[in-house]
Formats: sequence, C-alpha cells, structure tokens
Amino acid sequence: MIVVQNHDIENENCNISHQMLFQTPVFEIEIKDIDNKKLLENVYKLKKIDPDGCQRSNYGGWHSSLFTITKEQDQDSIHLFTPLFEKLQYILPILPFEPTIVSFQKCVIWANINNKNSFNDRHNHPGCDLSGVYYVKVPSGNAGSITFYDPRQALSYSDHFVKTRYVGGERIARFPIEGNMYLFPPSLEHSVMPNETDEDRISISFNLSLE
Ligand SMILES: [Fe+2]
Repeated sequence: MIVVQNHDIENENCNISHQMLFQTPVFEIEIKDIDNKKLLENVYKLKKIDPDGCQRSNYGGWHSSLFTITKEQDQDSIHLFTPLFEKLQYILPILPFEPTIVSFQKCVIWANINNKNSFNDRHNHPGCDLSGVYYVKVPSGNAGSITFYDPRQALSYSDHFVKTRYVGGERIARFPIEGNMYLFPPSLEHSVMPNETDEDRISISFNLSLE
C-alpha cells in the first residue's frame, strides 16, 4: 500500500497543496500499572448479580447493563470501574486535542465478556463525544480483533484509486492486548471478531461526554 504524505509540491509549473480532509483519530493506549485483577473480579461479580445483562451488538457472550457516572459522582464514590477511571482522568487531558480535554461530564460504561465464538456485530456509539474500549483480559490465541470500518462512504463503491493510494480501505483490524485501550470517535463503526479461544475475553466499553 502506498502512503501519500501530507506535503506540498511547488515547481515552475504549479503549486500543489495536498490537504488531508476528514481524518479519523484513533488512539491506541497502553495503560501501565492498572489494577486489572480488581477490574476482572468486579466484572465477574457484576455478571453474578446480573446474569442476563442486556442485548446490544453482542452475539453470544455477556453484555452488562449500562451504568451512568457523572463527574461529581466519580469524585467521591468508589465503584466497579474505579481503576479505569483513575487512568482516564490522567489520559484525557494529555490527548493531543486543541483545546485540550479538561475532564468528562458524563460517562456511560458497560462490561463485556466474550466467551468462545461470541462476537459483536458492526455498530457505532452515537450520542457522546468520545468512545472507548479497555481490555481487561485477552486470552492468547485468536481472541478476536476489533475491526474499524472506513467512514468514507465512497469507498463502498469501489473507488480503487483512493483505496490503493491512501491508508485505509474498507476496514482495519487491531488486535488488542491486555492493558490496551482504544479511544475513537463515536461515529466510527466497528465490530468484534469471534473469540476462537476457550477462555473469556473481557473488555470494558464506555461513551464519554467531555468538557
Ligand atoms: Fe462498540
């Protein structure tokens, strides 16, 4: 695949300004020193309390009910996702946005347990500013990628010129590891491929309203 750099060309015949419009930011973040053991225990505790969970994009597996946490609540309460929140409060303000993110006003959060052969259909997360998923447990072997779909609709109509010259194409898969988090625009469609291993793959997903 040829990657076209974002640079200008000037010569005696013309000046060309190459402008990359409508770029899609995805942050792949390796979180250090997070209490994964606590998060793992809490997710299984949650499943015990609420074994049916709710049905969303998941086929098989378990999807917890949704929890809404506001900034005020988060400051004085310890909850199931505290180890992740402590890290998010550090990470959000250092993301390279201008103006920078101060904090979140609201977070809707849920846990996912994908057991063998379960997967998540293509979907997006409307109604918030930034979406994310954090991986508490990823078994070794093919535990399933998270696949992001190119939001440029024109590519659905076999725009070969664009596909072959720019990074992207119809989809890009990422293979998460434990302790990794992805942050992405809520509009970015994605799916989760089947977990082919015998162990659970555990993630925590969230939608942030930011300030
Ligand atoms: Fe999702």
